Amino acid sequence: MSSSPFPYDKLSVGDSFIARDKDLAKLQASVEAGTNLLIYSKRRMGKSSLIKQFFQSQTSTICIYADVYDVTKKEDFARLLLKSLSHVKLNKSVLKNLADLFKRLRFEMTIDPKNDKYGIRPTLSSLTFDEMMQDFFAAIQGLSEKQPVVIAIDEFQQIAHIKDTHLDAYLRKFIQERNTNVSFIFAGSKRHLLTSLFAYKAPLFEMANHYALTPLAFEDIRAYVSQHLNISDDDLGYLCTDIADNETKMMQHLLHLLYVGKAKTPIRREMIDQALDEILNEKEATFRLLFDVLNTNQRIAMKAVVNAGRKLYSEAVLQQLGITKSALQSAIRQLFARELIDKENERYFIPDRSLELWLGRMMAS
Ligand SMILES: Nc1ncnc2c1ncn2[C@@H]1O[C@H](COP(=O)(O)OP(=O)(O)OP(=O)(O)O)[C@@H](O)[C@H]1O
Ligand SMILES: [Mg+2]
Repeated sequence: MSSSPFPYDKLSVGDSFIARDKDLAKLQASVEAGTNLLIYSKRRMGKSSLIKQFFQSQTSTICIYADVYDVTKKEDFARLLLKSLSHVKLNKSVLKNLADLFKRLRFEMTIDPKNDKYGIRPTLSSLTFDEMMQDFFAAIQGLSEKQPVVIAIDEFQQIAHIKDTHLDAYLRKFIQERNTNVSFIFAGSKRHLLTSLFAYKAPLFEMANHYALTPLAFEDIRAYVSQHLNISDDDLGYLCTDIADNETKMMQHLLHLLYVGKAKTPIRREMIDQALDEILNEKEATFRLLFDVLNTNQRIAMKAVVNAGRKLYSEAVLQQLGITKSALQSAIRQLFARELIDKENERYFIPDRSLELWLGRMMAS
């Protein structure tokens, strides 16, 4: 793929990061106050990019990032936290005392040839979950005596699926005992799961301030896009809102295709529609396969979500679809469990904007 100023299939940091000044300031304030932040948004909005961009801007804070998306066992979680230490850049003075930081863990020193920064790489031998967690948190406490530490755990809702221990209770204990120099950022996209981890009476209740990441501001998008594309405000609005429905990734994908095809010429609306066709055509086979493995009720439910959203279980909708309420409810539950649909404010929706548009097209034809 040729490079473009619009990354749509990787995180956006540095020059390609479209301003999020308010959100970066929020993170900064949270870290400075030593408090914890729970960031959530729909998928593909820019949570991970925001965290990475924030970390890049930090000069005197130790920044630790762990993405726990794939984690299903408590040991994996602990290992991932420890491994995340290998990406941390440390000063020489901290490194000298490294042996004091870890009780059981052995580690190697690393040097990044690009910037001569020192780091560490733990060698994970046969430690138990408790030992790994204790060592990790002891190390964090030690590090935070010299410098502020921020720990971002991305896709945090995944810990709700770890059944072999109460990780939330475990984390609560550490969070309560931590130095004021340590702060956490928890991020994720499944709002109901995430907020249930922090709900009243849950172990993490009141352990973090909640922050909903909203779509990029139109003025910020326009300021950035106008440096690279000749596009009217009207057409940019059409692209961002009508087509991408404010999903940052979809917006970037469309902009990328326009850029690669027609960087110098004025963008016309047909070109935006063509770019959308290209995206949907490219995904056709994948979406078709995904749809083909659904059973009849699940397909009906998918269509119902695209069309009805909030009024899903109304008599009129049920009658039109020819399905009973309980059959629809059960299909909705299955789709929800497979993450093909999501729910916000009592309304179901398809979290992948391109899939939603593809389904809309298929149903219209
Ligand atoms: N501030 C930004 N400027 C430019 N592009 C961005 C910005 N934020 C996100 N993007 C782009 O949007 C896409 C999705 O971003 P990212 O992966 O950070 O979102 P996310 O909310 O973490 O998604 P997920 O829920 O899938 O983990 C990426 O292609 C990224 O390049
Ligand atoms: Mg992410």
